[in-house]
Amino acid sequence: MQVIIFDNAQQVAENAAEWVAELINKKTNPVLGLATGSTPISLYQELVNKHKAGELSFTKTTTFNLDEYLGIDETNVQSYRHFMNENLFDHVDINKDKTFLPTCAQGENPRQQGLDYENKIQQAGGIDLQILGIGANGHIGFNEPTSSLASRTRIKTLTQQTLDDNSRLFAADEFQPTLAMTMGIATILDARYVLLMATGKNKAKAVKDMVTGALSAVCPASALQLHENAIVLLDKEAASELEDHEYYVWADKQNNKINQEFGLYHNY
Ligand code: F6R
Repeated sequence: MQVIIFDNAQQVAENAAEWVAELINKKTNPVLGLATGSTPISLYQELVNKHKAGELSFTKTTTFNLDEYLGIDETNVQSYRHFMNENLFDHVDINKDKTFLPTCAQGENPRQQGLDYENKIQQAGGIDLQILGIGANGHIGFNEPTSSLASRTRIKTLTQQTLDDNSRLFAADEFQPTLAMTMGIATILDARYVLLMATGKNKAKAVKDMVTGALSAVCPASALQLHENAIVLLDKEAASELEDHEYYVWADKQNNKINQEFGLYHNY
């Protein structure tokens, strides 16, 4: 796991945007995995800025989102499709026919929908770079604690903690879904690179468990310990419970030196 600590959340977003831009500018048919939630909003803002500055075009990019609420229509303002349109897709030159979310409408079979989503990812050539946030309970996507580390796209019941954490996004009288479709942990581990962003003090414990805790379904993000190319971008607050803080800063300096000498090499 490559842990990189920044002074603030804006720097995390800027660095994440560099990763995405590098992939998109380098690969003919890039496949990008996307996340929703508060954390990546500033990343999407950076990508929109790059696009408007003429530095980035999404015409060849295919995207797969991590998750979507069950039985929620894309016209619903709480749908993750709506979130993606608002925060990214409507502001860049992406072909929306190449943007996918693991949807499951009323009456559709969630098991079949999960299988179809996995197949679609395969057919696109697999995900090159998967953007991730992390829940305060250590979830990635909606893979809640005790999710199988071998899981694939499927329906998940959200935990009370996740419902409470996300209740800030729903009005008092608004329906808050308790079920979602999510890529599984094995689906996420299949991505060639995973880029996890975490900012703020409320993520510090989950970050510590992910980076230095036991590999365990209790902290689904700890599964990233098994990934060859897992990059973790943190602000100081999210990194505040990591004991070996200086080590990560030092290791990052060494990586930068190697990059300067031999060039940046990502095997997409
Ligand atoms: C959303 C997702 C979730 C969030 C996580 C953190 O697509 O996959 O795992 O990344 O719940 O959410 P925020 O960023 O709102 O703290």
